[in-house]
Amino acid sequence: MSAPHTPDLLRFITCGSVDDGKSTLLGHLLYDAKLLRDDEMATLGDPPDFSRLLDGLALEREQGITIDVAYRYFSTATRDFIVADCPGHAQYTRNMATGASTASLALVLVDARKGVLTQTRRHSYICALLGIRRVVLAVNKMDVAGFEQKVFTAIEAEYRELAAKLGITDVTAIALSALEGDNLVARSPRMPWYRGPTLLEYLERVPVQHDATAAPMRLPVQWVNRSGQDFRGYAGTLASGKIAVGDAVVALPSARHTHVTHVFDGDRDIESASAGQAVTLTLADEIDIARGDVIAATHDAPEVADQFAAHILWMDEAPLLPGRLYFFQLGPASAIARVTAIRHRVDVDTQESLSATRLAMNEVGYVHLSLDHPIAFEPYVKNRVLGGFVLIDRQSFSTAACGTVDFALRRAGNIHWQALSVDRTTRAASMQQHPRCLWFTGLSGAGKSTIANQVEQRLHALGRHTYLLDGDNVRHGLNRDLGFTAEDRVENIRRVAEVARLMVDAGLIVLVSFISPFRDERRMARDLFGAGDFAEVFVDTPIELCEQRDPKGLYAKARAGELRNFTGVDSPYEPPLEPELHLHTEKESVDVLARRVVEFLER
Ligand code: ADX
Repeated sequence: MSAPHTPDLLRFITCGSVDDGKSTLLGHLLYDAKLLRDDEMATLGDPPDFSRLLDGLALEREQGITIDVAYRYFSTATRDFIVADCPGHAQYTRNMATGASTASLALVLVDARKGVLTQTRRHSYICALLGIRRVVLAVNKMDVAGFEQKVFTAIEAEYRELAAKLGITDVTAIALSALEGDNLVARSPRMPWYRGPTLLEYLERVPVQHDATAAPMRLPVQWVNRSGQDFRGYAGTLASGKIAVGDAVVALPSARHTHVTHVFDGDRDIESASAGQAVTLTLADEIDIARGDVIAATHDAPEVADQFAAHILWMDEAPLLPGRLYFFQLGPASAIARVTAIRHRVDVDTQESLSATRLAMNEVGYVHLSLDHPIAFEPYVKNRVLGGFVLIDRQSFSTAACGTVDFALRRAGNIHWQALSVDRTTRAASMQQHPRCLWFTGLSGAGKSTIANQVEQRLHALGRHTYLLDGDNVRHGLNRDLGFTAEDRVENIRRVAEVARLMVDAGLIVLVSFISPFRDERRMARDLFGAGDFAEVFVDTPIELCEQRDPKGLYAKARAGELRNFTGVDSPYEPPLEPELHLHTEKESVDVLARRVVEFLER
């Protein structure tokens, strides 16, 4: 997630709400340090209004242009700075995560009259989560607080207590007035009791962490360069450490060992490179390395796993539902992932752990994550590049969450697939049929079970071996612990899809008749089967007709408000976009439709 730091560059993030005087602080600092451009000086007006400098952003926001994070660059004689300013509206989590993941310092602004607010706690929590261990606490508006030392020390003490709980180990508090310029660049004569640095002094002198070079070597492979005959180069940006010709390396997850024959910087053949540099390596042995693999120092390689404990910040409007599949991206490595458990949700205002079955937008949770294949990674605290990841929605392709890996769950390595001698092919052959899964989806009362039932009778008459999994029935046994919330329906479908897969493996033709209202989970079910082994049958009945039939009297109850989360009433149904079979029950009889399904199968 982060770009490694060069020694003369400080990346920091500013946190605070509009009223705290964030714009004024930065505007006045740059003005006093004579770092403003002529055009910026002109916008200030006379007498200067420092908040105007960054007001362009506020304006754009009003006009409905989304600004995720505004970056501002400036340099003094000692160092370069990149400051990330994150708008604090509804999507503050997303913006802060973006800004904080590359920052090594947070400037947390508090109003001397208000002290540490919920907002301060929230912002500090997210900074800490994304690896920031150093905070400069700007206690602003000291002018309106009478420049009183005890106001300052009380706020400083309260913040230090919070910081200690969050693992923020380095806090420097500065008493200042952004409006009047006290302790920004020049020392304030009005607070002689304050002995610490001015803000600019602090920013210029604070050590910039650049331990990435000292850490063991990791190169996440961005792409495999096969240009030219016999040339195979592995390109990427060194996430940490140093690499030199002759170094012993291991490729992960394959765990194959070899050594480096060349290091290229573009076309230039160089001897060595270090963290932050983009390089292409060639290796002594021809081993299979793909995009997303990691080339690492042999003596100290990262772990490989397919299950993790991680913190995630949920950013999507649609909630996180455990069991649902998402695209997973960690550096250049990608996978398909599901959250197998939400261990707890964290109330970022109070740092309390709460139990949760889903995560809503801007919520933070500690979760277990399972990937479809192992990848090389490191805990986020050790390496931001190899420990930071995002989850992406499989339908909208929007970033649904960002997360930080805590540790690998050992289970991943301890369960192995058992190869059995009597397999699916042998079983299918002895039953003389092509085992498959027919997935009936549609509203309650659409006629799924009625049609599936008749299909099964006809197949039985043809000598086929079948099994019908019906929602109502399975919910009496295997899934009796599940209700009808979105998260329970996801789990309902996950279980029945896994059962159907076992039954297909056992050689059966399996008919599944579940509402299965979400496209995501039907796709997940489909992906469990080989091509041609799964068919989606959309039993399409207009809701008015289902409601008219209302065989179980459930629509009437739902309309009367006696039944909550009823599909089609107050819970969504997402119709299939490309079902293998589309059955219109208001046009054709059950007989005709059942025959169509059997013909489809026998084809
Ligand atoms: S699914 O949405 O999770 O796939 P499933 O097919 O297992 O649902 O169960 C649906 C059956 O449960 C319906 O046919 C109906 O008889 C019953 N039911 C009870 N409450 C609800 C509800 N709130 N929404 C839908 N079906 C319900």
